[in-house]
Amino acid sequence: MKIAIGNDHSAVELKNIIVDFLKEKGIEVLNLGTDSSESCDYPVYGEKVGRAVVSGEADLGIAICGTGLGISLAANKVKGVRACVCSEPYTAVMSRRHNDANVLCFGARVVGSELAKMIVDEWINAEFEGGRHQRRVDMIMAIEEKD
Ligand code: RB5
Repeated sequence: MKIAIGNDHSAVELKNIIVDFLKEKGIEVLNLGTDSSESCDYPVYGEKVGRAVVSGEADLGIAICGTGLGISLAANKVKGVRACVCSEPYTAVMSRRHNDANVLCFGARVVGSELAKMIVDEWINAEFEGGRHQRRVDMIMAIEEKD
């Protein structure tokens, strides 16, 4: 499995912790930055993560900003992205099982590093259930075609 990861300045430290955590599990990581603590614009990195996933360069994506909100909004503007902000493991698991989320977002100013690792671990191990959930996911994606 290959995971693309991106973040703004608020989340460099947490991103590095998550990168190490994933690598320890033998997961390939595509670090899309930023690696600088200088103030930057989260939409740049939300889009980068989204494009890496939709293009197939990565299987899944993780995007982190201060709250997880701005970077998720940006990632969700990339056609084909289903980015979900998850601040605890239950929502993270359900975002895979029911929503087939392909980008996980959270806030470096919201969750601590141990909770973030737990969220990531549960998320990457959860599987989409398909069935009635596939129909609903298809309905979500069809909204993209209306504009
Ligand atoms: C940056 O200060 C902050 O606005 C950003 O990390 C994020 O929380 C936006 O949604």
